[in-house]
Amino acid sequence: MNKQNILITTLLFVAALSCQGQTTWKAQWKSYSNDEKIKARVFTLMDKMTLHDKLGQLTQFASPGELTTGARVDPDMEQHIVRGEVGSVLNAFELPILRRLQKEAVEKSPLGIPILFGLDVVHGHSTVFPVPLAQSCSWNMPLIQEAEHIAAVETAASGINWTFAPMVDVSRDPRWGRVVESAGEDAYLGSHVAEARVHGFQGNKGFGRNGIIACVKHFGGYGASEGGRDYNTTDFSHQSLFNYYLRPYEAAAKAGAASFMSAFNDLNGVPCTANRWLLTDVLRNRWGFNGMVVTDYTAIPELVNHGIVADEQEAGEAALRAGVDMDMQGTVFLRFMEKSIREGKVSEDNVNIACARVLELKFMLGLFDHPYQYMDEKYQKKTLMKPEFMTTAREMARQSIVLLKNDSNILPLDKKKIQTIALIGPYADSTTNTIGRWAGINMKAKYVSALEGISKSLKGSNVKIVTAHGCGIEGRDTTGFAHAVEVARNADVVMMLVGEGDVMSGEAQSRTDIRLPGVQQQLVSRIATTGKPTVMVLFNGRPLDISVPANEVGAIVENWIPGSCGGDALADVLFGDYNPSGHLTMSFPRNVGQIPVYYNHKNTGRPIDPAKPFERYRSNYQDSVPNSPLYPFGYGLSYTSFQISDVVASKTNMSNTDSVTINCDVTNTGTRDGATVAQLYIRDLVSCPTRPMAELAGFQRVDLKAGETRQLSFTLHMHDLGIYDDNFQWQLPQGEMQVWVAQHAEDVSNKVMLNIK
Ligand code: NOJ
Repeated sequence: MNKQNILITTLLFVAALSCQGQTTWKAQWKSYSNDEKIKARVFTLMDKMTLHDKLGQLTQFASPGELTTGARVDPDMEQHIVRGEVGSVLNAFELPILRRLQKEAVEKSPLGIPILFGLDVVHGHSTVFPVPLAQSCSWNMPLIQEAEHIAAVETAASGINWTFAPMVDVSRDPRWGRVVESAGEDAYLGSHVAEARVHGFQGNKGFGRNGIIACVKHFGGYGASEGGRDYNTTDFSHQSLFNYYLRPYEAAAKAGAASFMSAFNDLNGVPCTANRWLLTDVLRNRWGFNGMVVTDYTAIPELVNHGIVADEQEAGEAALRAGVDMDMQGTVFLRFMEKSIREGKVSEDNVNIACARVLELKFMLGLFDHPYQYMDEKYQKKTLMKPEFMTTAREMARQSIVLLKNDSNILPLDKKKIQTIALIGPYADSTTNTIGRWAGINMKAKYVSALEGISKSLKGSNVKIVTAHGCGIEGRDTTGFAHAVEVARNADVVMMLVGEGDVMSGEAQSRTDIRLPGVQQQLVSRIATTGKPTVMVLFNGRPLDISVPANEVGAIVENWIPGSCGGDALADVLFGDYNPSGHLTMSFPRNVGQIPVYYNHKNTGRPIDPAKPFERYRSNYQDSVPNSPLYPFGYGLSYTSFQISDVVASKTNMSNTDSVTINCDVTNTGTRDGATVAQLYIRDLVSCPTRPMAELAGFQRVDLKAGETRQLSFTLHMHDLGIYDDNFQWQLPQGEMQVWVAQHAEDVSNKVMLNIK
C-alpha cells in the first residue's frame, strides 16, 4: 500500500469509528423527557457542535455578585458566554442582568444556545416561607407542595429556570448548620417531604411558565458529615446508608426530579463527585434517573484536596466518568477535557451524553423557542408577592410553629386580661433576622416583624406593648439587662424573643455550642427572677440546647426563622387565633455532648432500663439527666389535648407480602378546636440487619373540633416494611413486629403485635 492509500484507509477508519461512536452514544442516552421531537432537536443541534461547544454546555459559572458560596474561579464570565463556553449561570437574579447575559448567549455566541439560569430558591423567592426544617414540622405535605409551587411561579417569573432544591439530606446533628435546609432526622418523613417539594417546583414535567427544574441535593449522605462540620467526610455502614440516608434521594428521583447535585463529601473513601457507584450505579441504573447531574460549587477541583486525584485534569476525568454532567464553577471540563479525550483518558461519549442531558432540559423549558419568555418585568411585578401567596406564607408559618412548653396554660394570652406585655430580647423589635439565608432574592422583600405582628393583633385592645433589647444576639454586653428587668417588672406578661441570627445556620455555620448565643441565656435567667409569667419565643434554624432556660420560663414557642409573614403567624399563636399544631422533626438534645440524639436508634446489647436510667454497664451517659432528648422527634403541644386509643389491626397473622389496616381513634379531649399529627411507628423485633427501636411508617395530620373523635386508618404493605441487607438487597420482614400510633416518638403505649410468616 502506498502512502496515499494508507492515509485514505486511516481516514476512513477514523471516520467509521467516529460515526460508530455517535451511533453508540445516541443509542445509549436515556432521555428524561422521552419525547421524540425533543430528542430529534437535541441530535440535530449536537451534530453541529464541536467538542469545545459541548464542553461549554457542561460548564456553569457563578455570576459576579454577593451570592457566592466559595471562591470565584474566573471573573470573565461574559467573554466565555460570547464564545459559547457557558451552559448555565448560577446566582444571577436581576432581570436586566439576566436579559443581557441571555442576549449575549443567543445573539452573539457561535450557536446561539440559550443559558439555563439557576438559583438557590430554598424556602421561597420573594414571598418567603419559613426555613425548610420549620416547614417540615407542619407534617402537611399539600401545604409544603403549595409553598414550593408558589416559589416556582415567582422564580420562573423572575427569569430563573432552575432551583438548587430540595435539600433532602437526613440530618441528625444540630451542630451542622445545614440542618436548617432539611426535613429533619427521619428518612420516611424526609421522603414524603422530598416528593412534595419536587412536585411543587416542577409541576407536571413540562415546566414552562409556572414550573422550574428541581435539583435534589446534596447527593449523597451529606447530612452525616462527621461531627456536624461542614464539607466533612462521611463514613457509612451499608445498612445505615441504604436504609436511612439514601431513601429521600430515591423518593425524589422517583417523583421525577430532573436534576441532582453531587455533594462535597467523601463517601466511604470516594468523594461523591467522583463516585461512579453513587452517581451511575445507584442513581441511574438502580433508580432509573435520566436527568442531569450538576456538581456542588467547585466540587470537581476540590477532588484534588480530597486526595483522590493528583491534579485538576484527573479530577475532571474522574467526575465525568462517575456520571457528572455539569461542572459548577470549577471550569475543569472546559479547560481540560479536550486534552483528556485526545489522550484517550475519557470517552467522548461521556461528553456527548452529558451535553444531550443539558440540552434536553433547555428544549423542555422552551428556551430555544422563547429565550426571553421568563424576562418580562410587567409579568414579574404582577406575579411576585400576590396577596394569596402571602396568605399561604402566613399559614405555613403558623403550621410550622411548635409549642414546646405551656405550664399553667400561660398561652394563649387573653387580650382582655392583660394590660402590659413586655417584648424583651434581641428579637424584641428586630426588623431583620427573620427571613433566612437561603430564600431566593428576598433582600428587598417586605416582611412582618414580631413587633409589627403583635401590634397589629393588639390594635383595638387596651394592651400596651413595651420593649427592651437587653442584649444583642451575640457579644458579651450585659449593660442592657437592668433596663430589661425594669421593663419586665412593670408588665403582666413577658415575651423573651431570643435565638440565633438567621444566618447563623446554613452553609458554613457549624457550631460546637448550640446554646443561645452571646449572653441571651443569662438574660432569660435574669428576667425569670422577676417572677413574671414568661414565654420564650425562639428564632433559630437548628435545634438548640435550651435545657437551662426551659426550666426558667413558663412557656416555649419554637418559632424558627419564619419568613415574610412570621410576625403575623406568631401573633396568631400567642393570642389564640391559631391553635399550634407543629410537631418536631428533629430531636432537641439536653446538651451538646448527647449529639447525635435521634429517635430511631438501635436497642444495643445493653439498653437503658427506663426505670433505672443511670444503671452502670448500660448504654447511657452518667451525667445527662435523663438520657432522653429534651424534646423528642414528633413532639408538639396544643392549646387543646388529644388522645389516641383503640389501636386495632385488621389481622395479626399474615405473610410478608400481605397488607394490613391499622385503625385507631383520635379524640380532641380539650375545649378548643385543634390539629395533631398521629404518627404510626413500627418495630421489627428480630431482623438482620438489626433495626431501630421505632421507625416511622405512616402519619396523618388531623383537624378535630373540641370533643370530636375520628377514626383513622393506616394501610401497611408488608413489602414496604422490609430493609436492605448489606448487599443492597431488599429483605422482607419476618416474625414479630410491633405497631403503634402515637403523638411523639417516645410515646410507646397502644402497641399491637403482628406475626409475619
Ligand atoms: C454550595 C451549597 O452547598 C449548595 O447547596 C448550593 O446550591 C451551591 N453552593 C450554590 O449556591
